[in-house]
Amino acid sequence: MKAPPQTILVTGGNKGIGLEICRQLARLGHHIILSARSEKRGREAVATLAKENLKVEFLLLDTADEASIQAAARDLTKRLKVLHVLINNAAILPTWAGSILNVKADELRDTFITNTLGPILLTQALLPLLEAGKPSRVINVSSQLGSIENMTDGWAGYGISKAALNAATRKLAEALQPRGISVNAASPGWVRTDMGGESATLSVEQGGKNIVRLITDVPHSLTNSFLEANGEIPW
Ligand SMILES: NC(=O)c1ccc[n+]([C@@H]2O[C@H](COP(=O)([O-])OP(=O)(O)OC[C@H]3O[C@@H](n4cnc5c(N)ncnc54)[C@H](OP(=O)(O)O)[C@@H]3O)[C@@H](O)[C@H]2O)c1
Repeated sequence: MKAPPQTILVTGGNKGIGLEICRQLARLGHHIILSARSEKRGREAVATLAKENLKVEFLLLDTADEASIQAAARDLTKRLKVLHVLINNAAILPTWAGSILNVKADELRDTFITNTLGPILLTQALLPLLEAGKPSRVINVSSQLGSIENMTDGWAGYGISKAALNAATRKLAEALQPRGISVNAASPGWVRTDMGGESATLSVEQGGKNIVRLITDVPHSLTNSFLEANGEIPW
């Protein structure tokens, strides 16, 4: 039986894995809000999907800017009665590799604000809509590089920000389980995007599918987990 259409917000939806998530979910008939920090890039992405006969809505949202998060939440509350899924996908990777011994304060600050603080504040701001849509979900797009169990030197700012996102995922999962909202972290794998680079092992289609499967294949009852294509991975 086909699942009923869900209303789903994707951050950083204008390119890479975020755009692919919007594409795959729109093909399944869901109501997609594609958000981006640039109105131009966001609307171009909406137009790209429209050429594929996929209709998605646009929302202006800079996840590194608290005022933008609040404004986007107000805008969404006018447009929607419920939100079933929030996908915190937007992230930055300012320095490829990079040791903890020389990571700059700016990189630590910027990655934390975008990759960790943004998802937390956005989840807070959208709680009324998520509660109205329960059982609902928050999916935090994380990375193997954020796994505490697999910490090696390199990718310092990014890895720390994603480990902190994983910690936030667990805190949110605990706080939101009684309210009917599941919260999981998901790694898309190493994907050929601007961030992942050309040598990455997975196509953007596969990377997107690894996140979309949290909606199509993972039950609402599963919360507080860190997932990859083949199931749970170590925090
Ligand atoms: N690619 C990989 O191998 C890989 C591996 C593990 C995890 N991930 C995770 O997967 C997610 C998507 O990565 P990707 O490979 O698709 O990266 P990408 O191609 O660099 O795309 C990143 C997206 O995030 C957006 N973004 C960045 N900062 C933002 C902000 N402040 N507000 C709103 N949007 C913002 C970008 O918008 P602009 O176009 O405006 O910059 C872009 O749409 C990220 O969470 C990343 O950490 C990726």
